[in-house]
Amino acid sequence: MVQSQLLAFALLSAGFVSAAIPSRDVQVANSSSSSALAKCPGYKASKVKTTATGLTAELTLAGKPCNVYGTDLKELVLQVTYETDNRLHVKIQDKANDVYQVPESVFPRPKSARVNSKKSALKFNYKLNPFSFSVSRSKTGEVLFDSSAAPMVFESQYLRLRTKLPNNPNLYGLGEHSDPFRLNTTNYIRTLWSQDSYGTPNGANLYGNHPVYFEHRKTGTHGVFLLNSNGMDVKIDKAGGQFLEYNTLGGVFDFYFMAGPSPIDVSQQYSEISGLPAMMPYWGLGFHQCRYGYRDAFEVAEVVHNYSVAGIPLETMWTDIDYMDRRRVFSLDPQRFPLHMVRQLVDKLHSNDQHYIVMVDPAVAYAEYPAFEEGIKDDIFMKRSNGSVWKGVVWAGVSVFPDWFAKNVEKYWIGQFLSFFSDSTGIQLDALWIDMNEPSNFPCNFPCDNPEAAAVGFPPEPPPVRTPPRPLPGWPCDFQPVGTACKRSVLDASETTDLEVRGPLRSKHEPLVARASGQQLGLPGRDLLYPKYAIHNKAAYQDSWNAEQGGISNKTVNTDLIHENGLAEYDVHNLYGTMMSALSRKAMLARRPTLRPLIITRSTFAGAGAQVGKWLGDNFSTWGHYREVIRTALGFASIYQVPMVGADICGFAQNTTQDLCARWAMLGAFSPFMRNHNEYLPTIPQEFYRWAVVTEAAKKAIDVRYRLLDYIYTAMYQQTVDGTPLLNPMFYLYPKDANTFGLDLQYFYGNGLLVAPVTEANSTSVDLYLPRDVFYDFWTLKKIEGKGRNIKVTDQSLTDIPLFLRGGVILPMRVKSAMTTTELRKQDFELIIPVGKDGKAQGQLYLDDGVSLEQKGVTNVRFDYAHGKLTVKGKWGYQTSVKISKVTVVGDGKNGKKVVGVNKRLTGDFVVKV
Ligand code: NOJ
Repeated sequence: MVQSQLLAFALLSAGFVSAAIPSRDVQVANSSSSSALAKCPGYKASKVKTTATGLTAELTLAGKPCNVYGTDLKELVLQVTYETDNRLHVKIQDKANDVYQVPESVFPRPKSARVNSKKSALKFNYKLNPFSFSVSRSKTGEVLFDSSAAPMVFESQYLRLRTKLPNNPNLYGLGEHSDPFRLNTTNYIRTLWSQDSYGTPNGANLYGNHPVYFEHRKTGTHGVFLLNSNGMDVKIDKAGGQFLEYNTLGGVFDFYFMAGPSPIDVSQQYSEISGLPAMMPYWGLGFHQCRYGYRDAFEVAEVVHNYSVAGIPLETMWTDIDYMDRRRVFSLDPQRFPLHMVRQLVDKLHSNDQHYIVMVDPAVAYAEYPAFEEGIKDDIFMKRSNGSVWKGVVWAGVSVFPDWFAKNVEKYWIGQFLSFFSDSTGIQLDALWIDMNEPSNFPCNFPCDNPEAAAVGFPPEPPPVRTPPRPLPGWPCDFQPVGTACKRSVLDASETTDLEVRGPLRSKHEPLVARASGQQLGLPGRDLLYPKYAIHNKAAYQDSWNAEQGGISNKTVNTDLIHENGLAEYDVHNLYGTMMSALSRKAMLARRPTLRPLIITRSTFAGAGAQVGKWLGDNFSTWGHYREVIRTALGFASIYQVPMVGADICGFAQNTTQDLCARWAMLGAFSPFMRNHNEYLPTIPQEFYRWAVVTEAAKKAIDVRYRLLDYIYTAMYQQTVDGTPLLNPMFYLYPKDANTFGLDLQYFYGNGLLVAPVTEANSTSVDLYLPRDVFYDFWTLKKIEGKGRNIKVTDQSLTDIPLFLRGGVILPMRVKSAMTTTELRKQDFELIIPVGKDGKAQGQLYLDDGVSLEQKGVTNVRFDYAHGKLTVKGKWGYQTSVKISKVTVVGDGKNGKKVVGVNKRLTGDFVVKV
């Protein structure tokens, strides 16, 4: 727990902050309502109109309304569209079109070719009365989804739909969560409601929401995506027959069914719906260092220096909210991070081919400073019904929250970025970190009606101002101790403009948008604070469910706020982080229009990968969390289409240990986003150079990572083209092998490298599963016949990580690593060819300039190896002087290994005889 949170808790327990929850008898116990739900009449279908590409029907309430958690809607419409050969769209909504639906502007709908139902791999079947539908595989008739398990309920504040499933199904997804990768199937609830999730608890809703699941059967894999942003519980249980049941607080049933039939097919099909992920800059795959609590620019510089002295490649240095003046976004601490020093810091990083990233939070301090005042002037903050800004509490103290639906918010946000992050006069930022965008209002318990009291202790006292504490060879004069013979810069008066007070606070108190009907703005008359159905929202930092803790608004902004466009926060809460992501991407592009933005966010909704990458938030420095982040990252890359993903290496909170940090450095090198980050003092520092063995582990891990970087970059590129996952759970590549379905401590990085880290404290061995296939130890190139059972790898010191090549996949590697990715890109390639059972192997290499949004020329080639002959063919558009200088074939014929030196320029197709 960070210091400030501890302080807030201390104040709470001392009675300084009102923790009282209004006593309103509105939370109907969900269990006592289940008998009432049994009386719900369901719907009956009529006026069915079938066309070649789908059908429509009307659904009317089939009996007396049950009105359990709201008012039953009487008239609904059904629309079924065969959108592609493999995708079926089933939508059930209110006839009047008043019920809220996820806006197209936030989640653009997939393009639909509309295909003839006869061509579809899926078939829609229905029953008229009571209405239910099922989706089956056209060829075999196998039923994949069947809503006849319970009558459908469609109320003003509650929707229920239950599908029958086979017993003990293999289900994956429904994140964000830290639960096992293969979901529990008994008495299990996945809640989707964005929440600041310190400690990433199991069994709880976390920062983001991805209402998509994949179900894997031996007969094939399919996917189901429910496009709905309302708070929801997805219940999975066996009582009365295995089922999965959606319980949402509103919205409509907007289902997309994906036919697969392989898991990778489903990933690709989901990417057509969610949008393809954004390609990241090459350097973004380098190693990043961050910490909450770097006290000043000297300390940041010192860390950069220490990495260089330790010889650990550092690609990017980060700064947390510490750079801000009193934690206010779009401001600089004039004493600890004065502009002239931050600019020198960034220049110095750039001169080393390194990069700089800082954090931006959405909440703006309620204080007299430009970012607040300009926001008031542009009228972009969320408001109460009386027109005054809604106030909560975040790091800076009392704060206000941008309304991402406000008319002027784009102008405002981009404007802040253009001036504060101006390359010529501001911080020359290379990429962006966005946080607290659930949005978090963590110190202020619902109803948060006295934010000033809750803000006591925020922001905390900053550390004492220091003069430069130690010589930093090679750094500008301003970073050297007083008395060093060198010329210091003179502080430019204009630097303080971001701290100026610009007159009294203004608020326009604009009237709220009148609610028109038929526009999906949300039904009128709902209780937006206390929906009767209580989702299992685990309010952050508290160990109890929402009914006792202020419901869905606890520790976030109140859900009865109405956005400028008329939408209720109740409906769009889960979109906040993704909307901030999308606009921040635009803002970064406005600064540097030709460069790919790298943005790392905390809160995501379906589709976020098209804009940003994601880190996994506030984990703990424990072995449990070390194991947990493997499966959570797998979910983002392989299911939710957010391939740029990684956890805080060595753990964010609590003290790490040498052994854990060494192991985590090795593991972290095999996640797409690699960043060491941890929290504030008194948590111990954990930069890799703090321990000799961690230094060694990090050097070795980064060395391999960098040599493999183009293999990873190629796999990432492929995901941005067709959704093929960059990280693969074992069953994605061995879908027929039931032993792989539940594995989540080993995985494939790309499709050719099996990663199986040591996962226990004080252990030097790993029990890992090898499917029936050919593998090779990455380090020794020794062949290992996979027999469909576990093998034990022993003698793994803290600087070892078991890695295996998958027979049949060629890995392009740089012959040598480097201190930065800029240097790395100058190294030649070697090809490792581990042949498969059939003696053959294939691979791919994608090369471009690494940074441009629009590439002038790219190289994208395919390697094919068979019978001693390597063929390299493809597109050769990227100009480089780098060559392929070595080819190593392993496992072909009697020769265990054959190495040939070659000298092949990357300019055109060629063949090599090995
Ligand atoms: C919460 C984030 O999850 C964490 O990474 C960060 O250090 C703190 N906010 C402070 O900004």
